[in-house]
Formats: sequence, C-alpha cells, structure tokens
Amino acid sequence: MNRKYRKTVIAGNWKMNMLASEIKPFIEELKANMPAKRACDVVLCVPGVMVPAMVKSGKDAKVAAGGEDCSCFEKGAYTGEVSAAQLADVGAKYCVVGHSERRQYHGEDDMLVNAKAKALLAHGVNPIICVGESLEQREADLTMEYVAYQVKTALSGIDATALRHCVIAYEPIWAIGTGKTATAEQAEEVCEGIRAVIRKIYGARPARAVSILYGGSMNAKNAAELLAQPDIDGGLIGGASLKPADFATIIAAANQE
Ligand code: PGA
Repeated sequence: MNRKYRKTVIAGNWKMNMLASEIKPFIEELKANMPAKRACDVVLCVPGVMVPAMVKSGKDAKVAAGGEDCSCFEKGAYTGEVSAAQLADVGAKYCVVGHSERRQYHGEDDMLVNAKAKALLAHGVNPIICVGESLEQREADLTMEYVAYQVKTALSGIDATALRHCVIAYEPIWAIGTGKTATAEQAEEVCEGIRAVIRKIYGARPARAVSILYGGSMNAKNAAELLAQPDIDGGLIGGASLKPADFATIIAAANQE
C-alpha cells in the first residue's frame, strides 16, 4: 500500500452466494467487528439483483455496493443482461469486470472486458478490472507478458482522467478459490509489473495513483503480509468475504501503516 498516492480498496466478491435477506445481519456483524475509523474503501460486490439491498444496508456502515459484471451494451434487446446505467441507477459504486470465472464460463475476452469497463465509466461506476495468469502460463514463464497484454487491452481507449476511476485486480487463476495464495513476493512482482505497464502508457503520475488489488485466496491470516507490499493497494476477496469476522480482520489489516 502507499496511501500517500492512492487509495486502499478492500472489495468482497460474493459471486453467486448469499441471499438479499442475509445482507442486513451480515452488515451488522461486520460493523461490530471492523474498525469504525477506516483508511480504506470497503466494497461488497454482489449479484445485480442484490445491489439495492446492499446499498441500503451498507450506507450506515460505509460499505459501498458493487456489481459483479455488466453488459457492454448501453440498452436494448439483451435478455438477462444488466447494464452499467442500471447498476448506477440503483447505487452501485463499483463493478467487477473480466473476472476469470466470466472469462472461463462465459467466454469473455479482453476486448469485451475493455468495452464493459468503458460502459461503466460512462455511467460513473468504477470498474474493478481483473487480470491474471493460469498455472500453465506461470509455469511457462509467461505471466508478465500475458498480464501486460490483458492490462493494455482492458485499458485501451481509456484516457488518464478515466483511469483515475479504474481499479486493477491481479488474480492469478490458480489462486482463486483454491486456498493456494500467491506469496507476497509473487503478488508484489506482478502488481509492480502492472504499474510499470500503466506507467509506460500514461506516465508516472497516473500510474502512481492507480489502486492495484491482489485477489486469490486472500484471507484473515495472509492479508496483512500481502497488503504490506508497496504495490498491493487492497484485495478482491471471494471466500473470506462471506464471513463477516474474517472480512473485518482483512479490513483491519488494511488500516495498518
Ligand atoms: P477467493 O476468490 O478469495 O475465494 O480466492 C477471489 C476472487 O475470485 O475474486
């Protein structure tokens, strides 16, 4: 983290878990466990249908609501899709795009991720752009090359002003939901590399200001070490964000330094 230049973001990703009716008690327990004064933005990204309930319950606790995906289209005949405008309208402040599960199960590619990020920016919703390599790519020593391509494509056509609203989440696929976390050194190396890619495109100042999160089995035990790295500005947390006490511990870790 480097709070002098950029904000720290702790974002939960509930995926297809929980019910809207469980949000209020969850937030109450979270509130009882997390520090009242916080030096980070706290967000819970939830299924689109649950965003209004998260907005309502999260308000008091200063927990922002986010979506987990959105359409790249503005509006129209796209049955089942949720648009960026619709997310913004119900109060979503953030939205995840390009999560590896979307890429894997729904065939999403980097150009689509770019279009989704732009759709969100057009409606004042901050995209959390996910990138990350597979185990095969890591073992073939292709991690940085691949992640750099993902970052460049996802940000193409996004200017420096809009970049200020983007958050990048580095999530090695082999670490997601596996309990196998990247070491702090591995995570820092790639997050630092991502910042270097952004520096090359936008220059030093915008690169310094971008929040880069780590995601992939971040939990109450390993969060402090990961967050202590200079280029890791927060976390995108799946499993551990479903447990209020664990999520609160991660938020507390982000309050350090
Ligand atoms: P995990 O998920 O924390 O359960 O590994 C992270 C994510 O998918 O964003």
